[in-house]
Amino acid sequence: MTNSFRTLDDVDVKGKRVLVRVDLNVPMDGGKVTDATRLERIATTITEISNKGGKVILLAHFGRPKGRDDKNSLKPVAAALADVIKKPVAFADDSVGDVAAKAVGAMKDGDILCLENTRFHSAEEKNDPAFVAELAKLGDIWVNDAFSAAHRAHASTEGLGHKLPAYAGRTMQAELDALGKALDAPTKPVIAIVGGAKVSSKIDLLENLVTKVDALVIGGGMANTFLHAQGVKVGKSLCEKDLAATALRIIDKAEASGCAIILPVDAIVAFHFAANTPSHAYGLDAIPDEGMILDVGPQSIERINAAIDDAATLVWNGPVGAFEMTPFDRGTVAGAKHAAARTKAKKLISVAGGGDTVAALNHAGVADDFSYISTAGGAFLEWMEGKPLPGVEVLKK
Ligand code: 3PG
Ligand code: MG
Repeated sequence: MTNSFRTLDDVDVKGKRVLVRVDLNVPMDGGKVTDATRLERIATTITEISNKGGKVILLAHFGRPKGRDDKNSLKPVAAALADVIKKPVAFADDSVGDVAAKAVGAMKDGDILCLENTRFHSAEEKNDPAFVAELAKLGDIWVNDAFSAAHRAHASTEGLGHKLPAYAGRTMQAELDALGKALDAPTKPVIAIVGGAKVSSKIDLLENLVTKVDALVIGGGMANTFLHAQGVKVGKSLCEKDLAATALRIIDKAEASGCAIILPVDAIVAFHFAANTPSHAYGLDAIPDEGMILDVGPQSIERINAAIDDAATLVWNGPVGAFEMTPFDRGTVAGAKHAAARTKAKKLISVAGGGDTVAALNHAGVADDFSYISTAGGAFLEWMEGKPLPGVEVLKK
């Protein structure tokens, strides 16, 4: 898949001003980065360009500011990045204009400079050609290493690709490679596990997946909507009753496409939404009226693990239970450990991503054992929906 993109193998960066779009949208608390995974991922690209004598000019957004505001400054993130890559990272208080031009002008080959939050200018999100031209003045080439922002057609994520020679960074390359192996040209059979609270946020994703995978495990709160649609009484469980027809349509589509839908066959039910509240496994014909389904039951876990055993490729998005509260993390942890073991045994290619998924796999202690874990949220979902991502499309030769 990456053959269709220009990469850092196709350019001599020495002496060039390289505008590198990265994702610095990392979780922060009290001015400190609480999860540096995204910074660790982009280190490869930055270090490579710097070591080859390119001038690395980092472009990124942080948060969703409406205009300039200090709490969305990239300054503390640039400092954290310097710690991760163990090289100095200079900072400029603006992404365009004199401030940026001066900072870039002062760079020597191999230097690294981070420009302030591109979203401080509303023109960034509008992909305004004048703003794109302002950014383009600062560089000779553009490298996109931000898959997780590639679903945005913004000036720094897409517009620049039309204005400057465009290349995929190493993280983008790895991501496209891993994702290509998971859905575009996978080793079959392919299984998808999709969990999370709501069907409503994942209708497009489910509709696309059933045409591509051989088996689809549905877990989490969204499984309740499917069970309800099939006549199961789900008590006080989270359930989007108005989406019953949608759920049935997805089941029909799956059947027509030869995709097996694997729903829970039993459930862990509690009477309060709280960690360690008393809970029991119930058959689907016996969910109490006052009960809440908070995880898949033991028989469902066996079924999911057996389905993983039958697969050569796994794509996972979303936890299958309320994993942030013990003991309702059991189903997610069991499935994750099983997938990790199969991957380690070289029986499975496992790819996971999107929102809570990384947190769930970290919680299960298996994040390092999956074949690939994407740090993308929305972009991963749009990719699973089969939608073209503007920041990826623009890199195509
Ligand atoms: C993310 O954190 O998911 C990306 O950086 C995109 O951020 P956005 O959803 O604010 O565009
Ligand atoms: Mg997002």
